[in-house]
Amino acid sequence: MDKILVIDFGSQYTRLIARRVREAGVYSEVHPFNHIPALTEEVRGVILSGSPASVNDKDAPSPDLSGIRGHVPVLAICYGAQLLAKLGGGEVAGAPSREYGRAILHTENNDPLFDGVPKSTTVWMSHGDSIVRLPAGARLIGSTDDVSNAAFRLDGESTWAIQFHPEVHHTDQGPRILSNFVKNICRCSGEWTPASFIDSTVTSLKETIGYGEVILGLSGGVDSSVAALLLQKAVGERLHCIFVDSGLLRKNEFDEVLASYGGMGLQVEGIRAADRFLGDLRGVTDPEAKRKIIGRDYVEVFYEAARKYGNARFLAQGTIYPDVIESAPVGTQAVTIKSHHNVGGLPKDLHFEIVEPLRLLFKDEVRKVGKALGLDPAILNRHPFPGPGLGIRVLGEVTPDKVRTLQEADAIFISALRQYGLYDEVWQAGAMLLPVKSVGVMGDERTYESTVALRAVHSVDGMTADWVHLPYELLAEVSSEIINKVRGVNRVVYDISSKPPSTIEWE
Ligand code: XMP
Repeated sequence: MDKILVIDFGSQYTRLIARRVREAGVYSEVHPFNHIPALTEEVRGVILSGSPASVNDKDAPSPDLSGIRGHVPVLAICYGAQLLAKLGGGEVAGAPSREYGRAILHTENNDPLFDGVPKSTTVWMSHGDSIVRLPAGARLIGSTDDVSNAAFRLDGESTWAIQFHPEVHHTDQGPRILSNFVKNICRCSGEWTPASFIDSTVTSLKETIGYGEVILGLSGGVDSSVAALLLQKAVGERLHCIFVDSGLLRKNEFDEVLASYGGMGLQVEGIRAADRFLGDLRGVTDPEAKRKIIGRDYVEVFYEAARKYGNARFLAQGTIYPDVIESAPVGTQAVTIKSHHNVGGLPKDLHFEIVEPLRLLFKDEVRKVGKALGLDPAILNRHPFPGPGLGIRVLGEVTPDKVRTLQEADAIFISALRQYGLYDEVWQAGAMLLPVKSVGVMGDERTYESTVALRAVHSVDGMTADWVHLPYELLAEVSSEIINKVRGVNRVVYDISSKPPSTIEWE
């Protein structure tokens, strides 16, 4: 399989580069600049990303590129371009002001990178430094009115450098330029499609698992369901799916999800373990402690199930690429904000071998694969839901009563989104039960009850998010229905924070 490596210098756009390359039908992987893997035969080219750093900073990222340059074609973007300029004896200096926004790129000669691109075309700039003198052996191939050295090529090696960002939507010919690089210059075949992914994954799952038995925890969400269908194709009846009622699922979710898997030919065992989870959570208020307890309980339930299935050796997970991808920490220590993901949640001394058939895919790619596998649209388009479920949406201590209260409120909210035809427009939505009580009045009575916060966000991969401008009528209906019908709640608020600086979940 042809592969393009994207070397991450910490730019906010790095993942976007990887996505765009994949959209051109070529598989790509992101690696941080301080862990660049050795080139293998499959690697057809390398893209160097942008960065918030300046090449003139004392600790500016500057990895050894000798194993790459001259061996495979290189496309250096923004910081990457400035790095090549500086390494080659050129000069990079702070621009008088940050150049941010659209510019017109003029290209003169018929360089293969700009094949089929008009001689003048709109590109997107986002940089603080400019290349004021080109490095030795560079040939200028593009300029804008403000940036004379906007694109150049290095003689004697297959290396291109561009100051603008072809990966962002505002660069009109961005897809063309990236496709020229990966297909014409790197000669990748462009056959990375859901169908080819399914074939190659099923083959490699067969090789890895052999005649072993596999346990897979289903969550009812798209990732674990697609993983199940792929594994079913690979190992058939040796796949044992488990769906755990942790007591932290949404209202009626356990029965509904089990029913929806029924039609898919999967062997799914529903295990009721609410008492165990809720018992272990008693008295615990710290979000990270709650996550760890829930993660541990899941693993224990899986272990017990594994014994039943002839000591299954493999544990499959629906981990996807954004969960595993490492971003390059530039100038700062990477900090754990939340120990989110399946990958981080498992104990170190795990006795299973982990199988993660989706660990190379972005969410939208998982959905395409799911569609190609015939997954029920109700599961395919389901909103993401955190592994610890309502355990981290009941803020503070989790009790069975609080979970029930939240389940009712959440069900009212989600069903209103569906009635208004907004469920599929929203990336993720849910309700939180806050650990505060406030005074209200119902009939002639004073009340002193809980607050429910509603959250609905637009996002691409959960890394950044914006709150959704839901119609006031919908919010009004949901608020009055929750306050009238859900006992113990006398106040509803709507969360209007973006991520960053907030996060999607409140814990
Ligand atoms: P945050 O709250 O960090 O969430 O903005 C981003 C996305 O991740 C989900 N999330 C989790 N998923 N285990 C998971 O599997 C977790 O502990 C967890 N915490 C947050 C969240 O729902 C959102 O989609």
